[in-house]
Amino acid sequence: MAESAPAKSILFSPITLRGATFRNRVVISPMCTYSAEDGIASDWHLAHLGQFAMGGAAAVFTEAAAVEPRGRITHGDLGIWSADHAAALKPVTSFISRHGALPAIQIAHAGRKASMQRPWQGNGPMDHSDAARGEMPWEIVAPSAEAVRDGWLVPSELSVSEIHAIQDRFATAAGHAHDAGFEVLEIHSAHGYLSHSFLSPTSNLRNDAYGGDRAGRMRFALETAEKVRSVWPDDKPLFVRISSVDSDGATEGWQLEDSVALAGELKARGVDVIDCSSSGISGTATAAQGKQPLGFRTAYSSRIGEDADVTTMVVGLVLHAEQAEKIVANGLADLVAIGREALFDPYWANHAAHKLGVDPDFVGWPEQYGWWLERRAPLLRDIGEA
Ligand SMILES: Cc1cc2nc3c(=O)[nH]c(=O)nc-3n(C[C@H](O)[C@H](O)[C@H](O)COP(=O)(O)O)c2cc1C
Repeated sequence: MAESAPAKSILFSPITLRGATFRNRVVISPMCTYSAEDGIASDWHLAHLGQFAMGGAAAVFTEAAAVEPRGRITHGDLGIWSADHAAALKPVTSFISRHGALPAIQIAHAGRKASMQRPWQGNGPMDHSDAARGEMPWEIVAPSAEAVRDGWLVPSELSVSEIHAIQDRFATAAGHAHDAGFEVLEIHSAHGYLSHSFLSPTSNLRNDAYGGDRAGRMRFALETAEKVRSVWPDDKPLFVRISSVDSDGATEGWQLEDSVALAGELKARGVDVIDCSSSGISGTATAAQGKQPLGFRTAYSSRIGEDADVTTMVVGLVLHAEQAEKIVANGLADLVAIGREALFDPYWANHAAHKLGVDPDFVGWPEQYGWWLERRAPLLRDIGEA
């Protein structure tokens, strides 16, 4: 029944990192859905994440999963701070694996951007409308007692022993993630959350070992990576998502050359992929901000990949199959993360493979669908619809 020979594509070529083989270079980016209760995953997470595995992506990231309750952005954030959290995620990881994708988790601490409203409930600090639903704010922590903005909660400054305790929670969370069946783990060090807020001179005003010069500001992220790597199995890849720059277009704060230095240090500590995002040191959700051209972060991923000699993933306004193919073919990134476009089309990867001629016969689709689609295609051609 095969219609034509599949086209060649680098986007749809596999890549192996440690013991994990990605069937292609398309990864579903972490995206909060704020739909957990006390951090526990439900059938929502199974259906939401499962569709992306059926849709042909190589790896499917959960949304940011908090390493402690205080580190959630909202009351609805996913958590991974206990064995119960891991158990609730097991059906998700086994479904994703059964459909040929790698189950991946992003572990996170929101720091001074914790204790917020869900986007659709205000997207700001919690107020009386949240209290009316029984959702109260909680005390938040950061490198320095600096609010993100006027009117937002002021965090308390972490002591050194509290810093170590949070780093240990990242490591404990990695252990739970392994128990839950995840094959890929990412530390969230971007978007103004705790780890990024240590990196940036605009939010880290400390003058102890965890602040001051760049080496001091990088200490939290590097030690956290070391602690996580010591727990996360050797055969499983570790990613770190960074904000390549504090704010796109700004000449102050954390800059691209800082990210190159950080990437090299992370690689030396056993981090396998630098996931190149950007911005978020101030304000709320990064994805909702600013007008940017398609694929604008490839300028970051290509520089970081080249100068630090690291494997990279790029995220941000990658919409089209041909665009993604060119990113990988031109060496601008090794992996491409798809965010909102996957909300629009959870089958983005399968559609891209079809469009690029890599999978003309729907072989990569779930067989329950592919068998029918393969037979429908010539019928559609006969009536001039394909
Ligand atoms: C609904 C939503 C939730 C998000 N949650 C996270 C998250 O949990 N962790 C993270 O690193 N980025 C998060 N992001 C950012 C995305 O992963 C991605 O970097 C961003 O949307 C840009 O990529 P895109 O243009 O493909 O959407 C979120 C974005 C959206 C739209």
